[in-house]
Amino acid sequence: MKHQTKVFGHRGAKGYLAENTLESIEKALSFNVDGIEIDVHVCASGELVVFHDFTLDRMTNGTGEVGKHSLLELQTLTVNGGYQIPTLVDVLSLINKNCILNIELKGKNTAVKTCEIVEDYVKNHGWNYKDFIISSFQHTELENAFQINKKIPLAVLTKASVSEAIDFAKTIETNIIHPNFALLTTDNVKLAQSQGYQINTWTVNDVDTILRMKNYGVDGIISDVPDKI
Ligand code: G3P
Ligand code: CA
Repeated sequence: MKHQTKVFGHRGAKGYLAENTLESIEKALSFNVDGIEIDVHVCASGELVVFHDFTLDRMTNGTGEVGKHSLLELQTLTVNGGYQIPTLVDVLSLINKNCILNIELKGKNTAVKTCEIVEDYVKNHGWNYKDFIISSFQHTELENAFQINKKIPLAVLTKASVSEAIDFAKTIETNIIHPNFALLTTDNVKLAQSQGYQINTWTVNDVDTILRMKNYGVDGIISDVPDKI
C-alpha cells in the first residue's frame, strides 16, 4: 500500500482535467495514487466507454444518450477541453497495473462486459483481481457481477445509509463499502470496521473534510484532488 489512507483519484483527477479522460487519469497517476475511480456505460455498438453522465450534453459537443451512440460516433465527439471519450480497455492500457482501478458500473447492463474484461486482464495481461474494485449504486449490476465471478472485489456505493449498504454487501459477500462522506461519523466507521468492512468514501475535496475523514480512520478517500490527501 502506498498510503496509510488509500488515495483514489475521482474520475481520474477531475479537479484538474476533464473527468474520465485519459489525460485526467494520467494526471492522477502522476500523483502516485493508490487507485483511480472511473464510470462506465455500454455504448450502442457494445463496447464499454468511460463516461459519467447518461447523456452527452454536459461534457461533450454531442447530445443525447451515451448508450444510443456507437463507439465510432462517440469517438468523433470532443470532450470539453479537447479530449476524447476513452474505452475501458484504453484506461486499462494506460494504468498498466500501476494502481487499483475502481470501475463504477454506472449504466445498465455493464456488469457482464466489465467482468469479461477484468477476467481477460487477469488471465492474459498480468493483472490481479485485487487490482480491481467494481462498485455500483445499482444492486442488480452488483448481483450480476457476483454471479459471474466471485473473485472480483465488489463495493456497495451508497448516498443513503451505511447500515443498508452493509446489509446488501452481505448478500454479495463483499466487505467493501463506498459511502458518501456525509453519511459518516467516527462511530459508524469504527462499528463497520469492527465488523470487518473497509470504507472508501467519496467525493472528499476540501482539506477540512479530508482531515475529518482521516480522523475517522476511513480506509480510503476518493477525491477530485487526490494530491491534497
Ligand atoms: O464512486 C464514487 C462516486 O463517483 C459516486 O458518485 O456520481 O460521482 O459517480 P458519482
Ligand atoms: Ca463515479
